[in-house]
Amino acid sequence: MVVLPTEENLQRAAALLRLGGLVAFPTETVYGLGASALDAQAVARIFETKGRPTFDPLIVHVAERGMLPQVVEAVPPLAEELMDRFWPGPLTLVLPKSGRVPSLVTAGLPTVAVRMPAHPVALELIRRAGVPVAAPSANPFGYLSPTRAEHVERTLGGRVDLIVDGGRTQFGVESTILWLGERPLLLRHGAVPLEALEEVLGPVELQVGPKQRPLVPGQLPQHYAPRTPIRLAYPHEVAPEERKEAGYLAFRDVPKGFKVVKVLSPTGDLREAAAHLFEALHQLDRLSLKAIYAEPVPEVGLGRAIMDRLRRASN
Ligand code: TXA
Ligand code: MG
Repeated sequence: MVVLPTEENLQRAAALLRLGGLVAFPTETVYGLGASALDAQAVARIFETKGRPTFDPLIVHVAERGMLPQVVEAVPPLAEELMDRFWPGPLTLVLPKSGRVPSLVTAGLPTVAVRMPAHPVALELIRRAGVPVAAPSANPFGYLSPTRAEHVERTLGGRVDLIVDGGRTQFGVESTILWLGERPLLLRHGAVPLEALEEVLGPVELQVGPKQRPLVPGQLPQHYAPRTPIRLAYPHEVAPEERKEAGYLAFRDVPKGFKVVKVLSPTGDLREAAAHLFEALHQLDRLSLKAIYAEPVPEVGLGRAIMDRLRRASN
Protein backbone atom coordinates (compact mmCIF):
# COMPACT_ATOMS: atom_id res chain seq x y z
CA MET A 1 0.00 0.00 0.00
CA VAL A 2 1.26 3.47 -0.94
CA VAL A 3 0.70 6.24 1.59
CA LEU A 4 1.71 9.88 1.92
CA PRO A 5 4.13 10.83 4.72
CA THR A 6 1.52 12.25 7.07
CA GLU A 7 2.15 12.32 10.80
CA GLU A 8 -0.13 9.31 11.25
CA ASN A 9 1.39 7.27 8.42
CA LEU A 10 4.94 7.94 9.60
CA GLN A 11 3.94 6.73 13.03
CA ARG A 12 2.50 3.58 11.50
CA ALA A 13 5.56 3.02 9.29
CA ALA A 14 7.88 3.47 12.28
CA ALA A 15 5.88 0.96 14.31
CA LEU A 16 6.07 -1.53 11.44
CA LEU A 17 9.87 -1.16 11.34
CA ARG A 18 10.15 -1.68 15.09
CA LEU A 19 8.03 -4.85 14.84
CA GLY A 20 10.09 -6.41 12.06
CA GLY A 21 8.12 -5.15 9.06
CA LEU A 22 9.32 -3.96 5.65
CA VAL A 23 8.80 -0.32 4.72
CA ALA A 24 9.81 1.31 1.45
CA PHE A 25 10.70 4.97 1.90
CA PRO A 26 12.20 7.87 -0.05
CA THR A 27 15.77 9.04 0.40
CA GLU A 28 17.54 11.82 -1.48
CA THR A 29 19.14 9.20 -3.77
CA VAL A 30 16.64 6.41 -4.54
CA TYR A 31 13.84 4.68 -2.64
CA GLY A 32 15.03 2.24 0.01
CA LEU A 33 13.50 -1.03 1.19
CA GLY A 34 13.90 -0.75 4.95
CA ALA A 35 13.89 -3.09 7.92
CA SER A 36 15.33 -2.82 11.42
CA ALA A 37 19.07 -3.38 11.06
CA LEU A 38 19.16 -5.08 14.45
CA ASP A 39 16.52 -7.68 13.56
CA ALA A 40 17.99 -10.58 11.57
CA GLN A 41 14.60 -11.99 10.65
CA ALA A 42 13.36 -8.68 9.29
CA VAL A 43 16.60 -8.28 7.33
CA ALA A 44 16.14 -11.78 5.91
CA ARG A 45 12.83 -10.59 4.46
CA ILE A 46 14.67 -7.83 2.56
CA PHE A 47 16.84 -10.41 0.79
CA GLU A 48 13.85 -12.61 0.11
CA THR A 49 11.67 -9.79 -1.21
CA LYS A 50 14.35 -8.43 -3.55
CA GLY A 51 15.61 -11.84 -4.61
CA ARG A 52 19.00 -10.55 -3.51
CA PRO A 53 21.87 -12.97 -2.90
CA THR A 54 22.91 -12.97 0.76
CA PHE A 55 26.55 -12.33 -0.16
CA ASP A 56 25.57 -8.76 -1.08
CA PRO A 57 25.74 -6.62 2.09
CA LEU A 58 23.26 -3.84 2.96
CA ILE A 59 23.64 -0.17 3.88
CA VAL A 60 22.48 0.83 7.37
CA HIS A 61 20.75 4.21 7.73
CA VAL A 62 20.84 6.36 10.86
CA ALA A 63 18.93 9.54 11.70
CA GLU A 64 21.50 10.98 14.10
CA ARG A 65 25.08 10.28 15.05
CA GLY A 66 23.88 9.16 18.46
CA MET A 67 22.69 5.96 16.75
CA LEU A 68 26.17 5.08 15.48
CA PRO A 69 27.33 3.09 18.54
CA GLN A 70 24.57 0.57 17.74
CA VAL A 71 26.02 0.09 14.28
CA VAL A 72 29.77 0.65 14.25
CA GLU A 73 32.50 -0.28 16.66
CA ALA A 74 34.36 2.99 16.41
CA VAL A 75 34.32 6.20 14.41
CA PRO A 76 37.86 7.12 13.34
CA PRO A 77 38.71 10.87 13.19
CA LEU A 78 38.72 10.86 9.39
CA ALA A 79 35.17 9.45 9.36
CA GLU A 80 34.15 12.15 11.81
CA GLU A 81 35.53 14.78 9.43
CA LEU A 82 33.68 13.31 6.45
CA MET A 83 30.43 13.17 8.44
CA ASP A 84 30.86 16.84 9.37
CA ARG A 85 31.18 17.71 5.71
CA PHE A 86 28.77 15.31 3.95
CA TRP A 87 26.09 14.16 6.44
CA PRO A 88 23.21 14.11 6.23
CA GLY A 89 23.80 13.24 2.59
CA PRO A 90 24.60 10.62 -0.01
CA LEU A 91 27.95 9.43 1.34
CA THR A 92 28.11 5.89 2.71
CA LEU A 93 31.07 5.04 4.92
CA VAL A 94 32.33 1.50 5.45
CA LEU A 95 33.53 1.14 9.06
CA PRO A 96 34.27 -1.64 11.58
CA LYS A 97 30.97 -3.22 12.57
CA SER A 98 29.42 -3.40 16.01
CA GLY A 99 28.55 -6.80 17.48
CA ARG A 100 24.88 -5.80 17.59
CA VAL A 101 24.50 -5.81 13.81
CA PRO A 102 23.52 -9.29 12.58
CA SER A 103 26.05 -10.72 10.16
CA LEU A 104 23.33 -11.14 7.55
CA VAL A 105 23.35 -7.33 7.17
CA THR A 106 27.04 -7.28 6.31
CA ALA A 107 27.21 -10.60 4.47
CA GLY A 108 29.60 -11.83 7.12
CA LEU A 109 32.07 -8.97 6.64
CA PRO A 110 33.74 -7.42 9.71
CA THR A 111 32.70 -4.00 8.37
CA VAL A 112 29.35 -2.26 7.94
CA ALA A 113 28.24 0.38 5.45
CA VAL A 114 26.45 3.31 7.10
CA ARG A 115 24.93 6.60 6.03
CA MET A 116 22.64 9.38 7.23
CA PRO A 117 20.20 10.23 4.42
CA ALA A 118 19.35 13.86 3.66
CA HIS A 119 15.62 13.39 3.24
CA PRO A 120 13.17 14.71 5.83
CA VAL A 121 10.86 11.68 5.47
CA ALA A 122 13.69 9.17 5.83
CA LEU A 123 15.12 10.99 8.84
CA GLU A 124 11.76 11.33 10.56
CA LEU A 125 10.92 7.69 9.93
CA ILE A 126 14.21 6.39 11.33
CA ARG A 127 14.04 8.75 14.30
CA ARG A 128 10.53 7.55 15.16
CA ALA A 129 11.42 3.90 14.64
CA GLY A 130 14.28 4.42 17.08
CA VAL A 131 16.40 1.76 15.39
CA PRO A 132 19.01 1.92 12.64
CA VAL A 133 17.41 0.89 9.34
CA ALA A 134 19.03 -1.47 6.83
CA ALA A 135 17.89 -0.52 3.35
CA PRO A 136 19.01 -1.49 -0.12
CA SER A 137 17.37 0.16 -3.10
CA ALA A 138 13.72 -0.91 -3.28
CA ASN A 139 13.88 -2.81 -6.56
CA PRO A 140 14.05 -6.48 -7.54
CA PHE A 141 17.71 -7.55 -7.50
CA GLY A 142 19.60 -6.44 -10.60
CA TYR A 143 16.75 -4.27 -11.97
CA LEU A 144 16.57 -0.47 -12.38
CA SER A 145 16.63 1.51 -9.15
CA PRO A 146 13.40 3.23 -8.03
CA THR A 147 13.21 7.01 -8.01
CA ARG A 148 9.43 7.19 -7.48
CA ALA A 149 7.02 5.37 -5.18
CA GLU A 150 5.21 3.98 -8.22
CA HIS A 151 8.42 2.25 -9.35
CA VAL A 152 8.42 0.39 -6.04
CA GLU A 153 4.71 -0.30 -6.21
CA ARG A 154 4.93 -1.74 -9.71
CA THR A 155 7.79 -4.14 -8.94
CA LEU A 156 7.54 -5.04 -5.24
CA GLY A 157 4.06 -3.72 -4.41
CA GLY A 158 2.40 -6.80 -2.95
CA ARG A 159 5.45 -7.86 -0.95
CA VAL A 160 6.19 -4.89 1.29
CA ASP A 161 4.13 -3.82 4.29
CA LEU A 162 4.03 -0.14 3.38
CA ILE A 163 5.39 2.23 0.74
CA VAL A 164 5.81 5.84 1.86
CA ASP A 165 5.48 8.20 -1.11
CA GLY A 166 7.80 11.19 -0.90
CA GLY A 167 7.65 12.14 -4.57
CA ARG A 168 10.58 11.92 -6.99
CA THR A 169 14.00 11.55 -5.40
CA GLN A 170 16.42 14.44 -5.72
CA PHE A 171 19.69 12.84 -6.90
CA GLY A 172 18.37 9.81 -8.76
CA VAL A 173 21.56 7.78 -8.31
CA GLU A 174 22.69 5.90 -5.21
CA SER A 175 25.08 7.12 -2.54
CA THR A 176 28.82 7.18 -3.03
CA ILE A 177 30.51 4.40 -1.04
CA LEU A 178 33.85 4.98 0.64
CA TRP A 179 35.77 2.31 2.53
CA LEU A 180 37.79 3.71 5.41
CA GLY A 181 40.57 1.24 5.99
CA GLU A 182 44.23 2.18 6.34
CA ARG A 183 43.53 4.57 3.48
CA PRO A 184 40.22 5.56 1.87
CA LEU A 185 39.05 3.51 -1.09
CA LEU A 186 36.12 4.48 -3.31
CA LEU A 187 33.85 1.44 -3.79
CA ARG A 188 30.99 2.98 -5.76
CA HIS A 189 30.57 6.21 -7.69
CA GLY A 190 27.41 7.94 -6.53
CA ALA A 191 25.68 11.17 -5.68
CA VAL A 192 28.71 12.72 -3.95
CA PRO A 193 31.16 13.31 -6.79
CA LEU A 194 34.71 12.02 -6.46
CA GLU A 195 35.91 15.59 -6.91
CA ALA A 196 34.10 16.67 -3.72
CA LEU A 197 35.67 13.83 -1.73
CA GLU A 198 39.11 14.66 -3.05
CA GLU A 199 38.76 18.24 -1.83
CA VAL A 200 38.79 16.77 1.67
CA LEU A 201 40.94 13.67 1.25
CA GLY A 202 43.34 14.43 -1.58
CA PRO A 203 43.64 11.78 -4.32
CA VAL A 204 41.37 8.80 -3.59
CA GLU A 205 42.09 5.30 -4.80
CA LEU A 206 39.32 3.66 -6.82
CA GLN A 207 37.93 0.15 -6.50
CA VAL A 208 35.09 0.66 -8.93
CA GLY A 209 33.92 -0.60 -12.28
CA PRO A 210 33.53 -4.04 -13.82
CA LYS A 211 37.26 -4.51 -14.43
CA GLN A 212 38.26 -4.13 -10.80
CA ARG A 213 38.49 -7.17 -8.61
CA PRO A 214 35.56 -6.65 -6.26
CA LEU A 215 36.45 -6.03 -2.62
CA VAL A 216 33.02 -7.26 -1.67
CA PRO A 217 30.91 -9.62 -3.75
CA GLY A 218 28.19 -6.98 -3.84
CA GLN A 219 29.98 -4.94 -6.51
CA LEU A 220 28.52 -6.97 -9.33
CA PRO A 221 29.47 -6.16 -12.90
CA GLN A 222 25.89 -6.58 -14.03
CA HIS A 223 23.25 -4.52 -12.28
CA TYR A 224 20.74 -1.66 -12.64
CA ALA A 225 19.47 -3.25 -15.85
CA PRO A 226 16.18 -2.77 -17.70
CA ARG A 227 14.55 -5.89 -19.19
CA THR A 228 15.04 -4.45 -22.67
CA PRO A 229 18.59 -5.01 -23.96
CA ILE A 230 20.60 -1.84 -23.51
CA ARG A 231 23.87 -0.71 -25.07
CA LEU A 232 26.06 2.38 -24.82
CA ALA A 233 26.29 4.01 -28.26
CA TYR A 234 26.41 7.43 -29.87
CA PRO A 235 23.56 7.96 -32.34
CA HIS A 236 25.77 7.59 -35.43
CA GLU A 237 26.84 4.16 -34.23
CA VAL A 238 23.28 2.83 -34.55
CA ALA A 239 22.21 1.78 -38.05
CA PRO A 240 19.13 3.62 -39.42
CA GLU A 241 17.21 0.34 -39.68
CA GLU A 242 17.83 -0.47 -36.00
CA ARG A 243 16.84 3.02 -34.91
CA LYS A 244 13.27 2.50 -36.10
CA GLU A 245 12.66 -0.12 -33.41
CA ALA A 246 14.86 1.25 -30.68
CA GLY A 247 14.70 3.82 -27.93
CA TYR A 248 17.47 6.35 -27.37
CA LEU A 249 18.53 7.75 -24.02
CA ALA A 250 20.18 10.99 -25.08
CA PHE A 251 22.32 13.23 -22.93
CA ARG A 252 21.26 16.65 -24.29
CA ASP A 253 20.39 16.64 -28.01
CA VAL A 254 17.59 14.75 -29.78
CA PRO A 255 18.99 12.45 -32.49
CA LYS A 256 16.99 11.53 -35.60
CA GLY A 257 15.36 8.26 -36.60
CA PHE A 258 14.73 6.55 -33.25
CA LYS A 259 11.29 5.26 -32.36
CA VAL A 260 11.40 7.17 -29.09
CA VAL A 261 13.94 9.46 -27.46
CA LYS A 262 14.36 10.54 -23.83
CA VAL A 263 16.67 13.47 -23.13
CA LEU A 264 18.39 13.46 -19.75
CA SER A 265 19.25 17.16 -19.65
CA PRO A 266 18.59 19.63 -22.49
CA THR A 267 21.15 22.00 -20.93
CA GLY A 268 23.80 19.30 -20.53
CA ASP A 269 23.72 19.44 -16.73
CA LEU A 270 25.03 16.17 -15.24
CA ARG A 271 23.11 16.61 -11.98
CA GLU A 272 19.86 16.93 -13.87
CA ALA A 273 20.84 13.98 -16.05
CA ALA A 274 21.49 11.77 -13.01
CA ALA A 275 18.15 12.75 -11.48
CA HIS A 276 16.35 11.64 -14.67
CA LEU A 277 18.42 8.55 -15.47
CA PHE A 278 16.43 5.75 -13.84
CA GLU A 279 13.08 7.37 -14.48
CA ALA A 280 13.81 7.63 -18.19
CA LEU A 281 14.98 4.01 -18.25
CA HIS A 282 11.83 2.87 -16.43
CA GLN A 283 9.76 4.68 -19.09
CA LEU A 284 11.70 3.24 -22.02
CA ASP A 285 11.60 -0.24 -20.50
CA ARG A 286 7.80 -0.21 -20.51
CA LEU A 287 7.52 0.38 -24.26
CA SER A 288 8.45 -3.14 -25.46
CA LEU A 289 11.24 -1.77 -27.62
CA LYS A 290 13.68 -4.08 -29.36
CA ALA A 291 16.62 -2.28 -27.80
CA ILE A 292 17.63 0.80 -25.86
CA TYR A 293 20.75 2.75 -26.79
CA ALA A 294 22.27 5.14 -24.30
CA GLU A 295 24.55 8.02 -25.10
CA PRO A 296 27.82 8.18 -23.15
CA VAL A 297 28.08 11.25 -20.91
CA PRO A 298 31.26 13.08 -19.82
CA GLU A 299 32.92 11.21 -16.97
CA VAL A 300 33.27 14.05 -14.50
CA GLY A 301 31.21 14.85 -11.40
CA LEU A 302 27.92 12.96 -11.45
CA GLY A 303 28.78 11.72 -14.93
CA ARG A 304 30.94 9.06 -13.28
CA ALA A 305 27.95 7.59 -11.45
CA ILE A 306 25.80 7.77 -14.58
CA MET A 307 28.40 5.95 -16.68
CA ASP A 308 28.94 3.36 -13.95
CA ARG A 309 25.20 2.55 -13.94
CA LEU A 310 24.95 2.50 -17.74
CA ARG A 311 27.97 0.25 -18.13
CA ARG A 312 26.63 -2.25 -15.65
CA ALA A 313 23.14 -2.10 -17.14
CA SER A 314 24.61 -2.95 -20.53
CA ASN A 315 26.87 -5.77 -19.40
O1 TXA B 1 21.75 5.59 -1.99
C1 TXA B 1 21.86 4.48 -1.47
O2 TXA B 1 22.93 4.07 -1.01
C2 TXA B 1 20.59 3.59 -1.43
C3 TXA B 1 19.59 4.25 -0.49
C4 TXA B 1 18.39 3.40 -0.25
O3 TXA B 1 20.23 4.62 0.70
N1 TXA B 1 20.94 2.26 -1.01
C5 TXA B 1 21.64 1.41 -1.80
O4 TXA B 1 21.82 0.14 -1.28
O5 TXA B 1 22.07 1.71 -2.87
P1 TXA B 1 22.28 -1.10 -2.17
O6 TXA B 1 21.90 -2.31 -1.43
O7 TXA B 1 21.67 -1.00 -3.53
O8 TXA B 1 23.83 -1.03 -2.20
C6 TXA B 1 24.58 -1.64 -1.17
C7 TXA B 1 26.00 -1.82 -1.59
C8 TXA B 1 26.42 -3.28 -1.71
O9 TXA B 1 26.06 -3.83 -2.95
C9 TXA B 1 27.92 -3.17 -1.53
O10 TXA B 1 28.51 -2.88 -2.75
C10 TXA B 1 28.07 -1.99 -0.59
O11 TXA B 1 26.84 -1.31 -0.57
N2 TXA B 1 28.36 -2.44 0.80
C11 TXA B 1 27.49 -2.68 1.79
N3 TXA B 1 28.13 -3.10 2.90
C12 TXA B 1 29.44 -3.11 2.62
C13 TXA B 1 30.61 -3.43 3.34
N4 TXA B 1 30.57 -3.85 4.60
N5 TXA B 1 31.81 -3.32 2.71
C14 TXA B 1 31.85 -2.87 1.43
N6 TXA B 1 30.77 -2.55 0.68
C15 TXA B 1 29.58 -2.67 1.26
MG1 MG C 1 20.71 -1.37 -5.47
